[in-house]
Amino acid sequence: MGIEPIAPEAEHAPRAGASAGVAGRRAGAVCLADYEHLAGDLLPEPLRDFISGGSGTESTLDGNRRALERVRITPRVMAGVEVADPTQQLLGTAASLPVAVAPMAYQRLVHSEGELELARAAAVAGVPYVVSTLSSVPLEKIPGDCWFQLYWLRDRRVVEELVARAAGCSALVVTVDVPVMGRRLRDVRNGFALPDGVVAANLETTKEAHTAVPGLSAVAAHTQSAFSPTVSWSDLEWLRRRTELPLVVKGILDPRDARRAVEAGASAVVVSNHGGRQLDGAVASIDALPAVVDAVGNEIEVLMDSGIRSGTDVLKALAVGAHGVLVGRPLLWALAVDACDEAFGLLRTELTDAMLLAGCADLAAVKELSWRNDG
Ligand code: FNR
Repeated sequence: MGIEPIAPEAEHAPRAGASAGVAGRRAGAVCLADYEHLAGDLLPEPLRDFISGGSGTESTLDGNRRALERVRITPRVMAGVEVADPTQQLLGTAASLPVAVAPMAYQRLVHSEGELELARAAAVAGVPYVVSTLSSVPLEKIPGDCWFQLYWLRDRRVVEELVARAAGCSALVVTVDVPVMGRRLRDVRNGFALPDGVVAANLETTKEAHTAVPGLSAVAAHTQSAFSPTVSWSDLEWLRRRTELPLVVKGILDPRDARRAVEAGASAVVVSNHGGRQLDGAVASIDALPAVVDAVGNEIEVLMDSGIRSGTDVLKALAVGAHGVLVGRPLLWALAVDACDEAFGLLRTELTDAMLLAGCADLAAVKELSWRNDG
């Protein structure tokens, strides 16, 4: 099993002169959000659309950003803080930021080493990396402190095999918002398909399973054939009995579902609408967060994702009640321009700057900040 706790720094040190991103050059980014433009200018349009797109009219995709913009923080002053401490325990393990890398499929689409490179940089940065079921590199090869993200597959034996293979990871993240894949119209219009050489390396799949059919992109067609739409809470209880790992339920928006997750034995939930890629019209994650925190925040960790683009957004999510956040697309864009180390550095700077400007020495102080929704 190639998965170890956070490995020694030397092993994951930044590689000199590396330039294997599809977009192929180091970026001159001054903030985390810059990578979208730097990578987007260089990637082929169908690939850019696959990453940036949402489902349907993309109202939830846009709504995530609008909702985060509406959150306003009241900073504290005269706090006498010179250095802000952004460290956080995530599922019992020390992380250098209140951040994990969101699971994202097929990272070799944007970088020849794909998941290996983003996970290496996450290990150097001291943040957990979530390996997707649809990783383009086998999960045993991923370096650093990994959580494994599980999609519920129709074939129960494959689920059991994946859970057994994930035993060396430090958490199991079950994504529960994909009974079917949201209709991502950009991908349908573009006839998006995986190029030769990029495969779901954790699964035994065929080229045929990844072929577009009318109305479905190749990726959606594979999901439809492989994922179980009938997964339910009893399956989560079944899973709880089969693994010792902390269970994280990703894709919760309703506090009643958060309670069900607690009852099924979850250690954390991720308040998420999948970055606007599933139900178009779903509530923004940041708007759904307070009710979920009220319902379960005293019992389990409540994480949040969808729309986080800066350290200030991380501060906002924590002030609103999240214990930590998952960051998705910005890190994939950074991978495409081979600038993962720089991206984690910018995210850290942005968060610690925001903490200092809000008068917060640590994340406990961030939780005490006043905020309001300017909507
Ligand atoms: C995802 N997401 C995702 N989620 C998951 O549970 N398993 C997966 O394999 C994937 N794959 C994936 C691919 C791509 C290209 C994207 C953009 C997203 C969703 C992801 O984990 C996360 O919920 C969102 O990306 C969070 O939103 P932001 O940070 O991208 O706005």
